[in-house]
Amino acid sequence: IEAALAEGPLKGRRVLVTSGPTHEPIDPVRYIANRSSGAQGTAIAEALRDLGAEVVFVTGPADAPRPTGVEVIEVETAREMRAAVLAALPVAAAVFAAAVADWRLASENGSKIKKQAGKLPVLEFAENPDILAEVAQMTEGRPGLVVGFAAETDDVVANATAKRARKGCDWIVANDVSPATGIMGGSENAVVLISGEGNEDWPRMGKRAVAARLAARIAAALGD
Ligand code: CTP
Ligand code: CA
Repeated sequence: IEAALAEGPLKGRRVLVTSGPTHEPIDPVRYIANRSSGAQGTAIAEALRDLGAEVVFVTGPADAPRPTGVEVIEVETAREMRAAVLAALPVAAAVFAAAVADWRLASENGSKIKKQAGKLPVLEFAENPDILAEVAQMTEGRPGLVVGFAAETDDVVANATAKRARKGCDWIVANDVSPATGIMGGSENAVVLISGEGNEDWPRMGKRAVAARLAARIAAALGD
């Protein structure tokens, strides 16, 4: 109901946001995860909602409380996230804020791996699908605007610029997540918006402010 009543520059536009970590099971009791809190993705979903968009929010098992007034789809693994994203299309714009695990176990253990004195388990990995790259490179039904994130610890702009080209997305929101910045898991973010029109350094600000500014940019790019 909230979405149907919303006014604003994105009124009636369907947008997708991915958010949070993914969990990749090792066995029934253990998994591989990462430090994403889901806060930035959640704030982006809320900011797009506040501009009137109909938001589909695909989230991994994140700590951040779920946004209201949006369609929430809960997933656990990268492969589940990919399926949910493809099912949500078509959308006018897609923002990939999730910290998707790059690897999963090559084969999942149906039973708990038991500790054996003096014997260490060896885990074999397989690569997960790159959801952003797949959507950005769609030849049919591609969202009009595809926005990726790049969390880097070194050579942030160079790495993120290469990432944008490699994946084929329109924009990359780059941030420095080196431990010294205190960004990862914190409430602030300092980003560089990398688009076809050069790089914009945004000052360090709260994640909600980053989200509001990004949502406004998306609304301007989509036009009305
Ligand atoms: N992404 C995705 N699916 C993946 C991996 C990443 O959709 N399997 C998306 C993320 O949501 C983010 C962007 O791709 O928007 C960049 O993620 P990142 O982890 O920085 O890029 P990678 O290509 O995985 O490179 P690396 O982790 O080696 O830096
Ligand atoms: Ca990665």
